[in-house]
Amino acid sequence: MTKEELIALARSAALKAYAPYSGFSVGCAIESVDGEIVTGANMENACYRLGLCAEQSALTTAQHTFGVDKVARIAVAGGDGSGSELKGEQAVTPCGGCRQAILEASHLSGRNIEIFAASGDGKACEVLRIRDIIPHGFGPEALRDAE
Ligand code: THU
Repeated sequence: MTKEELIALARSAALKAYAPYSGFSVGCAIESVDGEIVTGANMENACYRLGLCAEQSALTTAQHTFGVDKVARIAVAGGDGSGSELKGEQAVTPCGGCRQAILEASHLSGRNIEIFAASGDGKACEVLRIRDIIPHGFGPEALRDAE
């Protein structure tokens, strides 16, 4: 799948977001090393702090579908999802919590997972690697000294 196709899937996944409180719809598409695809979108809640991000929603499905140790590439796109197509000009990069969740997948696979951070309209895209956007991250190996 091309980068553009993966971003297109993230953009359409955003249209299934439940984001009545922020009005900001985010979609995420994850591709496995074998080319399998899963998607997710943000899921907000009346108790605001319980909202779930698109990336973590997609990672949960990835775990159930092929295992997060098989994650190869991730596309994220966000913006105004009120119409028939996602809109917005600003590239959306994963929040800190989502970087931590992607880092866990990265440690399991030993892969520096590639991330396409796209704008709502899909025209802007920053190509990132998880280890670059969460330097000195706290990963599974940080727990080595546990009992
Ligand atoms: N959001 C995501 O889904 N992923 C991110 O990486 C950034 C933020 C969602 C959370 C909330 O529902 C909305 O965007 C506004 O913050």
